[in-house]
Formats: sequence, structure tokens, C-alpha cells
Amino acid sequence: MEWAANARKSHFELGFVPTMGALHQGHIDLAKRAKAKNDLLVCSIFVNPIQFNNPEDLKKYPRDLERDLQRLQTIDCDAVFCPDEEEIYPEPVTTKYDFGHVDKVMEGKYRQGHFNGVAIVVNKLFDIVQPHRAYFGEKDFQQLQIIKALVKKEKKEVEVIACPTVRESDGLAMSSRNARLNPLQRKEAAKIFETLEGAKKRFGFMSPRAIKKWVEQEINASSELKLEYFEIVDAENLLPLEKTDPDFPVVGCIAVNAGEVRLIDNIFLNV
Ligand code: PAF
Repeated sequence: MEWAANARKSHFELGFVPTMGALHQGHIDLAKRAKAKNDLLVCSIFVNPIQFNNPEDLKKYPRDLERDLQRLQTIDCDAVFCPDEEEIYPEPVTTKYDFGHVDKVMEGKYRQGHFNGVAIVVNKLFDIVQPHRAYFGEKDFQQLQIIKALVKKEKKEVEVIACPTVRESDGLAMSSRNARLNPLQRKEAAKIFETLEGAKKRFGFMSPRAIKKWVEQEINASSELKLEYFEIVDAENLLPLEKTDPDFPVVGCIAVNAGEVRLIDNIFLNV
């Protein structure tokens, strides 16, 4: 990306927000943070086919480039990189990343190949954009850990900035997938964060096992929601927590199906 190379040569600091488009307030929040802390803001819009383990999900992924570009214009985004598939994948990709435990559990277990696809595209985007800082939402908590591991593994000189999850007024984490919920599913989806807050209240009083059971009952009590997993893990290495009084940050990660729409969220349980 010549623009980025020239900007770097002129000693401008680049803040980067990689996205798959269908921008919502969560993306805009990342972009505003990047804009505030860097000389220039670059966003990318690329629906990365190799991170979709489910072809139906890729087909249904919302796309509206015109609207996305307009939104980015309103916040004075300095450059938008919208490559086509050919540019990112001129030949078939064969890279296989192994991040140890972190890419095998939770999303890694239920969405085989997903994190490999994310790591490959983010690595390529970092090579092209060469940002000083890249901004990612904590909503995709496991993705964030994978990207930190990728940066270490590939010795990239980019600072990964984790940003708090942006929520709707009823607590639902903002996601491009929310647009696919019908009105009843949308209403019931608020129970996901409500339940995570309930889990946080119980943490330290109940065993991790008992909290997991409680979360399962709460979510599955809704006719619109079905729990896929709720895991209580060490926030750094994502290893399952056995004890109730850890002296390190612990996060509860959840995946829920609302009809055909898969929603994820998380909460820090002890910080
Ligand atoms: O979080 C996303 O939107 C995507 O996984 C990312 C980081 C843009 C890679 O395609």
C-alpha cells in the first residue's frame, strides 16, 4: 500500500482498524480511538473467506461498502483499504499456525480453521499497511489473544491495542451479526450479557463448575437461545479455571445460538 509506505516515510504514526465491513458503533469506536492516538487512521474492509468455517455464514455476511465508506468519511478516516480476494490471496494459502492451547479451545474448537484464517489475513494486512498500532475489540476476546500471539510469533512491530466492548442500551454486545436477529431473538439476546453479569456476581461465592451450570440454565431457559459454551478461563492463556480465588484476571467467555445467528460475548469476572 503505497499511501501507507509514504506516510511512514514522512514519519507519520499510523493507527489501523482491520474490519470485515458492515460497520457498527463498535468499529467506529475503535476507529475514533485510533484517530485520537495516531497521526493517521487507516481502516481495512475485507470479508476474509478463509476465516469462515461455515460457507452459509460467509454467504449471509452483511456487505454494504457504500454505507461503510460514508460512515468512515464522517469520522475523517484518512485511508480505507478495500482489497479484493485476488490481492490478498494471489495463490492458495497453505500456512498453518499453531498457537498452542489458545487456538484449540472455545471458538477454536467450535469453528475449526477460523483462527488460522484470521491469523493469515491479519499477518498479510499488517505487512501491507505497516501500522504502528492496531485496534481490536475485547468482544472477540480469544481473537485478541491470537493476534497478540501472532505479533510475537511473526515479530511484528505493531502495538496491539485492546478496546472495551461497545454495547447496545440493553447490554447486547455490538456485532454485525445482530442485524440478522428477528425482533424476538433480538429482545432475548439481551439475556446474554445479563447472564454474564449474574456470573460475575456469583464469582468467588460459587465454584466455577456451579456457575457454568447456572449460566447454562439461564440461557437455555429462553426459547430463542441455545448455549454453545460458557467457559471460565485465565484471561492470558485461556486455560480453564479450577479454583474460586485466583490472583490473576479471569474471564467468562460465552457463545450462544439465536436461531441461525451465533453470538459471542465475555466478561472479566474478578476485575
Ligand atoms: O474481527 C474481525 O472483524 C476480523 O476477524 C478481522 C480481524 C478483521 C480479520 O478478518
